[in-house]
Amino acid sequence: MKIGLFYGSTTCYTEMAAEKIQTQLNTLFDAPVVEMFNIKDTPLVEMLNFDWLILGISTWDFGELQEDWESHWSDVEALDLTGKTVSIFGLGDQVGYTEWFQDAVGMLHDLVVAQGAEPIGYWPNTEDYEFEGSKALTEDKSHFVGLALDDESQYEKTDERIASWCEQLLSEIEA
Ligand SMILES: Cc1cc2nc3c(=O)[nH]c(=O)nc-3n(C[C@H](O)[C@H](O)[C@H](O)COP(=O)(O)O)c2cc1C
Repeated sequence: MKIGLFYGSTTCYTEMAAEKIQTQLNTLFDAPVVEMFNIKDTPLVEMLNFDWLILGISTWDFGELQEDWESHWSDVEALDLTGKTVSIFGLGDQVGYTEWFQDAVGMLHDLVVAQGAEPIGYWPNTEDYEFEGSKALTEDKSHFVGLALDDESQYEKTDERIASWCEQLLSEIEA
């Protein structure tokens, strides 16, 4: 099993979460399965070397993509992700940007699905957050389409959310 974790991070919060997810999954698999890449330095075509991708993105500027994802968006549009499993996690701020909470997760999800990827890791605990709107919700609003982390107002929940999401990923990938 090899997992490619690709993230973009402006002020390092997504990067810190990526490191925690890497540590957690390596522990669960009892092997160094996760290779981590900052998309600022790594061409996104490298994603094609992995069957399972974990993608990390933060939301900026009232519902916009993190800047490195934004500048490499068309690179993803050029990739055929058919047969790839993709899990997404995001960083956002449900208090400061409550109408646009985690919007970039929803946008990245829709893009990779359009490129043929199979998503796993939808996050069920939406009642654990307070926000006005999000593009990262499923149509029935019962799930986020990836793990939603908020280090601004719920930092104390991040570690347990990551641990629980990684367990969920493991059970979905083994199903
Ligand atoms: C100027 C600014 C705009 C932001 N806009 C949003 C937003 O629209 N939606 C959201 O959920 N979070 C928003 N955030 C919160 C960031 O996503 C959050 O700080 C995140 O942890 C940044 O992660 P990064 O350092 O990995 O880029 C914003 C933060 C700043 C400073």
